[in-house]
Amino acid sequence: MIGSEQEHTCVVGLAWGDEGKGKIVDLLCESYDLVVRYNGGANAGHTVCVGDERFALHLLPSGVLHPEKVSVIGPGVVIDPHALLDEIDGLGERGVRVGDNLRISDRAHVVMPYHKIEDQLSEQNAHQGDRIGTTARGIGPCYADKMRRSSAVRICDLVCFETLEPRLRDIIRAKRDGLSAVYGQQITLDSDAIVASLREAAERLLPFVADTTALLHEAHNAGRRILFEGANGTLLDIDHGTYPFVTSSGTTANSVAPGAGVPARTVANVLGVTKAYATRVGKGPFASELDNDIGDRIRKQGNEYGTTTGRPRRCGWFDAVATGYSVRLGGVTEIALMHLDTLAGFERVGICVGYRLDGREVTAPPAHADQLERVEPVFEMLDGWSEDPSRVESLDALPDNAKRYMERIETAVGVPITIVSVGPERSQTIIADTRTMTAVPRATVT
Ligand code: IMP
Repeated sequence: MIGSEQEHTCVVGLAWGDEGKGKIVDLLCESYDLVVRYNGGANAGHTVCVGDERFALHLLPSGVLHPEKVSVIGPGVVIDPHALLDEIDGLGERGVRVGDNLRISDRAHVVMPYHKIEDQLSEQNAHQGDRIGTTARGIGPCYADKMRRSSAVRICDLVCFETLEPRLRDIIRAKRDGLSAVYGQQITLDSDAIVASLREAAERLLPFVADTTALLHEAHNAGRRILFEGANGTLLDIDHGTYPFVTSSGTTANSVAPGAGVPARTVANVLGVTKAYATRVGKGPFASELDNDIGDRIRKQGNEYGTTTGRPRRCGWFDAVATGYSVRLGGVTEIALMHLDTLAGFERVGICVGYRLDGREVTAPPAHADQLERVEPVFEMLDGWSEDPSRVESLDALPDNAKRYMERIETAVGVPITIVSVGPERSQTIIADTRTMTAVPRATVT
């Protein structure tokens, strides 16, 4: 890989997920040869609108809507085989065939039924304040088993099912006993049914399984351009997010290297996606939240309901403190600002430009959730705009107040806004001077 310089890009969410990454990845696809998921699992919900059709993707990279691109599910992803097959079948019913264009890493881990049960039990049994509000997709328990190693199942294990089966039966037994003891109730796990259903799914998934690490190295050396698709959002990062109200994987561009199996310097452009306001699903601190009529109005105008769980999203003003932190943390080089149209009609629009904690100003989100819960947002209010920008095609043609609003965000977070989304369709996107679509691949094959 050394010496190769074509510009690969990573798209990440700068908040708590649901920023609109699916639309951006779909848009950028044209300029790339491969699209790679490197973290998370079926907890993600990427919505892509093509014409009148709306696709909700969870495990599949958004590249699958472009059959000529290679879509890769990397080693850092946790895969629920049935959720993945349902997604593939669902697309097939709508005329989108997933075949040779999909490659699944043999190193990725498998989400098992007992992971989902444990996810639910742990939420149900937690004290109200300790509930994370997970998507119940088994993500945390699966990553926990990955770290524990002895109880983990990987995609490559499915290839040698005969070897896996006795070990899997032991794991199921241990899970049943462990969960029953911890939660004080008899947990039923039918080993025969779990084994049979996994075997069936494995047979269908095997044609997609590959050494995707080698595949990416070869693609890079052949001068092909790679788009890495981050799932969830920076503030849900396991190490740097609003812990413990986070997901269980690395969600920034920094996790591309371990999650996809490429060197740390692979990514040249990091496109951070954020809405023109803030949203969050699930529990956890949210400094700029508006638990009032304005928040309700943003939810209504932006149709802010979860893609994966359908839950209403909490809404608030744009948080420049949290977004600036996400930008610095993940080496973000430019921003795609989504849902600008949703803010049309608000007399005033706010940006959270500071946090005050116990009377002092803090410049970044504090580590402790209790402290973050207590910060007081410092809002800067700007004049809004009444003109609907949903048919605007250039930055210049945006309402003046919308331009001023965007300029204030740029100064506050320190990177330029190069893409602006003014509606769900591909055509409702204003593309300014972005390296992610225009930079010419420069390959030095070694
Ligand atoms: P988990 O990833 O299901 O364990 O959920 C942990 C937290 O992350 C919960 O608050 C979820 O609502 C949130 N979360 C995980 N993935 C996403 C996503 O893609 N969008 C929004 N929230 C997410």
